[in-house]
Amino acid sequence: MTEDLVLPAGRGTGDAVAPEPLLQVSGLVKHFPVKGGFPIRRTVGAVQAVDGLDLVVHAGESFGLVGESGCGKSTTGRLITRLLEPTHGTITYRGRDIGHATRRQLAPIRSEIQMIFQDPYSSLNPRQTVGKIISGPMEINGIEPEGGREKRVRELLEIVGLNPEHFNRFPHEFSGGQRQRIGVARALALEPKLIVADEPVSALDVSIQAQVVNLLQQVQRELGIAFVFIAHDLAVVRHFSQRVAVMYLGKIIEVGDRDSIYTRPRHPYTHALLSAVPEVNLVSGEGPQRERIRLAGDVPSPISPPSGCRFRTRCWKAQDKCAAEEPPLIRLSGNRDGHLTACHFPEEPTTEPRDEDIVLDPALTALEDRPAADAEAEREG
Ligand SMILES: Nc1ncnc2c1ncn2[C@@H]1O[C@H](COP(=O)(O)OP(=O)(O)OP(=O)(O)O)[C@@H](O)[C@H]1O
Ligand code: SF4
Ligand SMILES: [Mg+2]
Repeated sequence: MTEDLVLPAGRGTGDAVAPEPLLQVSGLVKHFPVKGGFPIRRTVGAVQAVDGLDLVVHAGESFGLVGESGCGKSTTGRLITRLLEPTHGTITYRGRDIGHATRRQLAPIRSEIQMIFQDPYSSLNPRQTVGKIISGPMEINGIEPEGGREKRVRELLEIVGLNPEHFNRFPHEFSGGQRQRIGVARALALEPKLIVADEPVSALDVSIQAQVVNLLQQVQRELGIAFVFIAHDLAVVRHFSQRVAVMYLGKIIEVGDRDSIYTRPRHPYTHALLSAVPEVNLVSGEGPQRERIRLAGDVPSPISPPSGCRFRTRCWKAQDKCAAEEPPLIRLSGNRDGHLTACHFPEEPTTEPRDEDIVLDPALTALEDRPAADAEAEREG
């Protein structure tokens, strides 16, 4: 396989769309110290949860962040909302670096950046009424809307598709999907410009996931709020996000416009993620067959990630160069503006089925082969 011609690319993720991004993250790093030793505990290493992340989110756009468990999605979300402070790097929100801003400096923008959490059960205080939960952020920020907070709470309940008369009820009186709607109403209470939604539907029944995704999409479009939508798989963000970034072990390994990522993925890991999601196929109407790659095995530990390309221990195309040099996130020849890939030996820009399955974990092949081998042994016996 020849190496692709590389074109120069700007830093960030497709920042040609608008002059000043709402949010710009550069070289973002978050390392959590690992303590060990006896009798004196000291720092013996670090979990490299986020390790050099660049991304741009424009006003009103929906940006999807996808990757397997433990790759650093939530940490990224918590850094952007400044629930965590970065180890290194900058987070520029509307032209101001908020990466290391103090609590006091953050106060004016706290209302503009909100977060919706994965678990609608634990993210709502069970002892507070829905009215109190939704008006809480207004109270904390001393905001008195026209007509009063209760009127605003009723409006918000209506926006998220709940009965405005239910503002006196408690969270346990609502279903999972309804509770997540309450979480959305609370996030909307301060008219934010950016919402980080961390796996907002993964704790919900499949049957109601689509309803909540539709609600978020409606909110994003009608209220012009920018979203960073975090999800495990590419199917969930497909209809929601205009641009999508794929994360692996603390880094973005591919980013681009939705269509570019879904129809012309270049990173082997993106290929593997896409082929693991049959629904993507069905929804796109491209026929039931697409490439066949089965991603199995675990992501290596973020305490000691592989050298060079972090995906190399699971990549079927890995070569010596992959261990020696970290592939930069760049625009490859033939790719659209803003579609960046970090791979020395990228895939063809297609999701066509392959002649043979690629199985990324030898243990899985062994397991799958066993029934066939057993049957053969029986026949022979
Ligand atoms: N406070 C913390 N202290 C130490 N390690 C942490 C902390 N928070 C996260 N980590 C570690 O950082 C890595 C990234 O975690 P993170 O929660 O960001 O991943 P994620 O992509 O959101 O995963 P999931 O899909 O399971 O939610 C994991 O290895 C996790 O164990
Ligand atoms: S750089 Fe090498 S190991 Fe990494 S994804 Fe590309 S081919 Fe695979
Ligand atoms: Mg998470």
